[in-house]
Amino acid sequence: TWTTGNIVEEQIAAIREQVGDKRAICGLSGGVDSAVAAALVQKAIGSQLTCVYVDHGLMRKGETEQVEKDFVAATGVQLKVVDAQERFLNALAGVSDPETKRKIIGREFIRVFEQAQLEILQEEGPAVSFLVQGTLYPDVVESGGGTGTANIKSHHNVGGLPDDIEFELVEPLRQLFKDEVRMVGQELGLPEEIVQRQPFPGPGLGIRIVGEVTKERLDLLREADAIARHELTAAGLDREIWQCPVVLLADVRSVGVQGDGRTYGHPIVLRPVSSEDAMTADWTRMPYEVLARISTRITNEVKDVNRVVLDCTSKPPGTIEWE
Ligand code: XMP
Repeated sequence: TWTTGNIVEEQIAAIREQVGDKRAICGLSGGVDSAVAAALVQKAIGSQLTCVYVDHGLMRKGETEQVEKDFVAATGVQLKVVDAQERFLNALAGVSDPETKRKIIGREFIRVFEQAQLEILQEEGPAVSFLVQGTLYPDVVESGGGTGTANIKSHHNVGGLPDDIEFELVEPLRQLFKDEVRMVGQELGLPEEIVQRQPFPGPGLGIRIVGEVTKERLDLLREADAIARHELTAAGLDREIWQCPVVLLADVRSVGVQGDGRTYGHPIVLRPVSSEDAMTADWTRMPYEVLARISTRITNEVKDVNRVVLDCTSKPPGTIEWE
């Protein structure tokens, strides 16, 4: 029979067999899939694995710390953290167009990640020839099923390395669905906050600020998002809600009245959706009391926010994210 324990043991044996005495690299995104894949490979080959985490400054409150501290404590993984916050902010300065933001974030991410890979390749030790990826079964089916190799190209003129390095892929989650991945993560003792994490887009909070991305706006949105997440969890809505983007309308202001006077602040949008696979979604009819609590807390506690609005649009016609 197929139990979570079996899956773990089988995969550990398969990974050992595949990697042998070579080394492997794994990029951690903060999401469930890469975390579970890395933990499995760590169990199999220990210090032959190095993980890379790019801190682009677009994560939600506490998420980077969960990777840097809790994930490392739970797994003992060797982790290289690259602090690239300034670099991303500089690259995003003055940009409001959603597609342009996505392209910039994707491009910078690859550059930073590949630079980190090259640094690891130059370290002493056995050859690095494996790249770990958290590919799930639905991803395999969607992309037609092949396994493969990945190339990294050296844009950085790091001396002594070939122009083009080829990695063989290690994909220990290829036979699993998301709920099974979460079970494997639990079995491996990963922090609950990571294993139960709801989907979060790669470009992070960068595409949840309508307007230019700045440090101040990111900090403000992080606070509002943390309040919403806290209250949704406290109300026991994490299973009913697929995800709840919290969006800052940075280019919009409205008049309010707070304390002794008039304010001219930004709205925050709550976008709770129910979905099976994110291809379609319905807005979640969540309890008014919970909405009221989130709204009160955000307008009281987050500077420059004087209004909270609910997005009651299904997908289609609206996408889940605003950008
Ligand atoms: P949309 O907004 O297209 O989102 O309805 C569907 C799902 O995909 C997530 N999403 C992303 N995930 N990189 C990701 O890894 C991305 O660039 C990205 N854009 C959207 C979104 O959060 C939702 O779950």
